[in-house]
Amino acid sequence: MNEEVLNKFNIQQFQQDLLSWYYQHKRDLPWRQDQDPYKIWVSEIMLQQTKVDTVIPYFYRFIDKFPTVYELAAADEQDVLKAWEGLGYYSRAKNLQTAVREVVASYGGVVPENPDELGSLKGIGPYTKGAILSIAYNQPEPAVDGNVMRVISRILKIEEDIAKVKTRNLIEANVREIISKDDPASFNQAIMDLGSSICTPKAPACMFCPIQEHCKGFEDGVQEELPIKTKAKKQKKIPYVVLLIRNEKNEYVIEQRQDKGLLADLWQFPMVPINEIGRKHIENWVFSEYGIKVKLKEHKGNLKHVFSHIIWELEIYEAETKSIATDDPRLRFVNLEEIGNYPFPVSHQKMMQYLSEQ
Ligand code: ADE
Repeated sequence: MNEEVLNKFNIQQFQQDLLSWYYQHKRDLPWRQDQDPYKIWVSEIMLQQTKVDTVIPYFYRFIDKFPTVYELAAADEQDVLKAWEGLGYYSRAKNLQTAVREVVASYGGVVPENPDELGSLKGIGPYTKGAILSIAYNQPEPAVDGNVMRVISRILKIEEDIAKVKTRNLIEANVREIISKDDPASFNQAIMDLGSSICTPKAPACMFCPIQEHCKGFEDGVQEELPIKTKAKKQKKIPYVVLLIRNEKNEYVIEQRQDKGLLADLWQFPMVPINEIGRKHIENWVFSEYGIKVKLKEHKGNLKHVFSHIIWELEIYEAETKSIATDDPRLRFVNLEEIGNYPFPVSHQKMMQYLSEQ
């Protein structure tokens, strides 16, 4: 624990300054209309790795389609992925549905209030658990994500590497000390709002900060050097040729990705790993992989898509085939109307501009 800083820290005054700022300035967000644990859960899962502005329309549509745990539990997984299309990190949606099904099966449809039960659900890690317990159930539990780590490491001048689990645990322990026991829901959300509007990663607006006088980082002039974070490894680049394969019925070949790993179960246009097979062998590779004879046509464009650990470098080509059916269980021939019913990753949605009507 940061004993020295915490000993001098006026916890009560800090809470009061933070909370009165929050009560006046809190953002009006759709998941703040009530304390429905299911809605808070959905919002917190969406907000992992995704910005608030992006999440808002997805949240409305998702809750409209699946208003309670029961509708989500009963839904077809492909419909859930379709509702998530474009948000990325699709395993979040699958895990959410798995966990919601468990809530219906084992907890009578009530999101557990017990930390151990809640934390045992699929996809609920320490952050999401703390967010649901504090925001929906008013329990004084820390909800520490990257933004909260930045804010807390500045306030308490924590100079440890936030990429380490140990530092995260330290920050959680510190939050337990300083969290408001009267209004933990507002306390955690106030820290989140402070992180997005004032205590930003670059050039924090300390002059407007309601808790400036409590901030050890500011006092020592090191706020912009915090948090300390070791750099992640550079993403590996992987080149692919992507084929928009069309037959004479004006149908395109789409493929469902495998049920594990990156973009699991989503649909895409066939991707040829040219690093592994070389450019000369594309048509042969497609025949040996899918049993479909194709003829490569025009180069339509290039796209890059950055994931957290890899980068796809995509060259998009049209291709023709005489096939109208396939035995390959991964593949389907679909027309332009049908294609909209399938969940695609963003990079492949972007390619749809190259699909032609005739
Ligand atoms: N980021 C993560 N959770 C949030 C919340 N509940 N409100 C605002 N921003 C958030």
